[in-house]
Amino acid sequence: MRDVSASAPGKLMLLGEHAVVYGYPCIVSTVNKRISVTVKKTLNKQAFSDSIYVMTSVRMFIEKYHSGSSFSITTSSDFSPTLGLGSSSAVTVATLKALTAYFDIALSEKEIFDLALKVVRKIHREASGFDVAAAVYGGTIYYKIERPVEKLPERKMPLLVVYSGIKADTSTLVNQVARQKKYNPAKVNNIFSQIGDLVKMACDAYNKFDWSRLGMLFNKNHQLLVELGVSSEKLNALVETAIKSGAYGAKLSGAGGGDCIIVLYKNNQKEKLIKVLTNSGGQILDVL
Ligand code: MEV
Repeated sequence: MRDVSASAPGKLMLLGEHAVVYGYPCIVSTVNKRISVTVKKTLNKQAFSDSIYVMTSVRMFIEKYHSGSSFSITTSSDFSPTLGLGSSSAVTVATLKALTAYFDIALSEKEIFDLALKVVRKIHREASGFDVAAAVYGGTIYYKIERPVEKLPERKMPLLVVYSGIKADTSTLVNQVARQKKYNPAKVNNIFSQIGDLVKMACDAYNKFDWSRLGMLFNKNHQLLVELGVSSEKLNALVETAIKSGAYGAKLSGAGGGDCIIVLYKNNQKEKLIKVLTNSGGQILDVL
């Protein structure tokens, strides 16, 4: 068998985080950084990268397709897993794509998505799968659990991605929201339903290149995430700095607690925003 490599992109949550876990829609985009996986024939043993996502992908792939010759798997990434850009979903999808190519098994995108989602949910039961969908389908997508993925038209958004310098732990934050939902369902359901509504409006603004309206929806989404209790002082400070400096809008992106914020900027403000956000301790990421 010949050596095979495959890759998948990282992601950026645009709007709808947390609510998506409970069946509301979100919008997610891929970044221009990828993870590559190579499957190689080995003489007498299977040797894998020590990523739990790679190991679980291999195990579930072998269980499903009964393919079991000796091979090794190596990975390489364009981006650090600490940034919150979806390295787990990207490495899972890239591994499954490489394995299907190596064993000459033709799978549709939907079949890769279903298997990758199973892998990811073996490790994080609560995962919505939005990042898996981004890694499989690419581009900008409207995602809702158990609904066909809707690809949105390509738009070059005036977007900055700013790392807060703090690594977020998605599971901790998702569990924290689940506890809140249990103790105060009315409040949390109300937040989710507002997030769901604004994601739909955001789709329309995105389709129409209406960055001013999309920015306003970013701000609203961020406020709802603050009410949900998943933001942090650092994230709020970066978002406020961006808005005060004239951005259309800004919000945390992902689970909260840390990772990145995203900023929609007016064209003549990009350099100024880069300066003030860097001075406020943010790290501008070149991922779009
Ligand atoms: C984390 O990046 C986004 C969450 O909505 C979790 C998920 O969708 O799986 C918080």
